[in-house]
Amino acid sequence: MQVNNDFQPVIVAFCCNWCSYAGADLSGTNRLNYPANVKIIRVPCSCRVNPMFILRAFQKGADGVIICGCHPGDCHYTSGNYYTRRRITLLYSMLDFLGIERNRTRLEWVSAAEGAKFAAVMNSFVDEVKKLGPNRRLEDLRCRKQ
Ligand code: FES
Repeated sequence: MQVNNDFQPVIVAFCCNWCSYAGADLSGTNRLNYPANVKIIRVPCSCRVNPMFILRAFQKGADGVIICGCHPGDCHYTSGNYYTRRRITLLYSMLDFLGIERNRTRLEWVSAAEGAKFAAVMNSFVDEVKKLGPNRRLEDLRCRKQ
C-alpha cells in the first residue's frame, strides 16, 4: 500500500485522568516526541468514553481515535477499564458492520509512569492511521472545515 507522507491525520485521544493523562504529561516532561496532530481529551476514567463519542469523533473529521486507560486492575474506580474493554470489543464488531477499518480505533493501557510508552503508542498509532489514509466513511461533510 502506498503511503501519502503529506497526509497528517487528525487523532483524538481519550485519556483517563489518573493514569494515561499523567503518562502523557510525563512524556512531555521528559521531552519525548509524539505528533502534534494528537488531540488529547481528558476524561475521569476510560469508561466515561461512550462509544457514541468515538463515532461522533469520526463524524466530525477524526481519522483515528485512541482510548487510553489504566492497566487492568489499576483503575482508580476499580473496574471502569473492564467496562471499557467490553464496550470497545462491541464497538469493533459495529465498526466491522459499518465497514470502517478496525485499525482506526485502538485501546491502550498506559500508566502514569509510562511516558515513553505513551509517546511510542501515539507514534505507532499515527503511522498506522497514515497508512489507512483519510477517514471518508463516517465523516459528515457538513462538519468539514472549508
Ligand atoms: Fe483510568 Fe479508570 S481511572 S481507566
